[in-house]
Amino acid sequence: MKKLILLLIVACCGCKAQTSTVQPTGLIANKAMVVSARAEASKIGSDIMKKGGNAFDAMVATELALAVAYPYAGNIGGGGFMVYRKANGETGTLDYREKAPLAATKDMFLDSNGNVIPGKSTKTPLAIGIPGTIAGVFAVHKKLGSLPMSEILKPVIELAERGVIVTHKQEERLNDYRAELIKINGVNSVLSKVYKEKDTIKYPTLANTLRRIAKNGKDEFYKGETASKLVAYLQSKGGIITMEDLAKYEAKWRNPITFKYKDLKIISMAPPSSGGICLAQIMKMIAPYDLKKMGHNSAEGIQIIVEAERRAYADRSYFLGDPDFVKIPLKALMDDNYLKGRMSTFNIDKATLSSDVKEGAVTYNESMETTHYSIVDQFGNSVSATTTLNAGFGSKYYCDELGFMLNNEMDDFSAKPGSPNMFGLVGNEANSIAPGKRMLSSMTPTIVEKNGKLFMTVGSPGGSTIITSVLQTILNVYEYDLSMQEAVNAARFHHQWLPDLITFEPNAFDVKTLETLKVKGYLINEKNTPVIGKVDAVLVLPNGKLEGGADFRGDDTAIGF
Ligand code: GLY
Repeated sequence: MKKLILLLIVACCGCKAQTSTVQPTGLIANKAMVVSARAEASKIGSDIMKKGGNAFDAMVATELALAVAYPYAGNIGGGGFMVYRKANGETGTLDYREKAPLAATKDMFLDSNGNVIPGKSTKTPLAIGIPGTIAGVFAVHKKLGSLPMSEILKPVIELAERGVIVTHKQEERLNDYRAELIKINGVNSVLSKVYKEKDTIKYPTLANTLRRIAKNGKDEFYKGETASKLVAYLQSKGGIITMEDLAKYEAKWRNPITFKYKDLKIISMAPPSSGGICLAQIMKMIAPYDLKKMGHNSAEGIQIIVEAERRAYADRSYFLGDPDFVKIPLKALMDDNYLKGRMSTFNIDKATLSSDVKEGAVTYNESMETTHYSIVDQFGNSVSATTTLNAGFGSKYYCDELGFMLNNEMDDFSAKPGSPNMFGLVGNEANSIAPGKRMLSSMTPTIVEKNGKLFMTVGSPGGSTIITSVLQTILNVYEYDLSMQEAVNAARFHHQWLPDLITFEPNAFDVKTLETLKVKGYLINEKNTPVIGKVDAVLVLPNGKLEGGADFRGDDTAIGF
């Protein structure tokens, strides 16, 4: 079925590029919209706006509703990034990324010979970074929110009590992870049990935790009863997070990465996410080429995008880390002449070798996790937020007493320079582990302006494929004249410098296109990655209405009014 849908989309994309008027195909709303990974979360966010709340109130509600309805990636035991644009054009970003505990050390995932111990940074309590989500939503609410926190949290708590209906995809996901969840949490843990589609999962202990947070504020999570219980739980499992770690955690407002692509202004996340800077590098490198003329997902178009991706991900690996710990040459990396020079080795007849860009050889292992939501409110404010536990269900450590899953974000550090993490990404000293440091991310919550007005809010999960999924979605609308929903649906490809492969969504690309690329020396991977990204986006249409793009690859849903 998925193959058929993707083939239809490919065929449709071919015709679409010829037409000048783009017909929306996603949900249309007059004023406000939320697009997220679960209908329950989109509805709660949308309802908050219907009650008069703004996009920032809806952000708090949606983020926490995803922690209830989508424990695979939604969380209060993880972290994320938010990009916003207010109706008056003011923009900003919030970093609520997890941090390394104070007891973390540079070599904590290495053996005595200096080799990475497999699984230690992903499947042990040491994999858990200090969660940032609750600090994040409180920071957003304090600076930009309008409704009382108790009012925003009420429907979220009710959802946790009432329970969430299991979807077909959720049943499959829980089946896939059950053995691991049982191994860590035992058979009686909420998510260890067997659920069928249409069953209801209730989260009473999460409802209690959220109720305490609603009453006592952010300190409940970082200094109060929840903090004490969390630390006791983690220490009983051999974790190293302390009360001091939690008390010291703070979300940080950071300047966005902004850049021009033709007549678009792109506003995205700065380090410690690599998202904005990689997106900027890639878009600046591809800007001189006439992608529209080459056609959507044509061999030539794919080649140009891949070569820009290769070069951007090589820079990511070397230069990027937590800006509070390492100096990042942001201006130089985004400099037009530098990027022109980077593409000067590109040859349309032949693939560049990643070993010629920078050396390395790794194995590739893709996974779907993290979650993104996009919001536009009735006042013209917009929010693009991506939040994560890292892997699906994070570290798999689920604190039943508190009702939430803990992240395994420590794997996003470079455990050893040159060794790949679970996304096959290799890092360097800039992203080495240090106490209190934030691990490098690929999350790319992004807002796009056209002619000075809000145009799109977009983002995706998908680890290292997040950046390239966001890129292709913007290009699909802007260069290839797809509607928002078509742009989200369209088949995607990905290259991340190492391993030196182009990964394609299986059975979704023209065989001749792949053959052309092979002849030019590109290695094609159509097998190991069932999907690339899972994009949720909102487009402002020329008539001012909103079109949602909710990814069919998940249970993602747009809801608005
Ligand atoms: N944990 C995935 C990311 O932050 O990129």
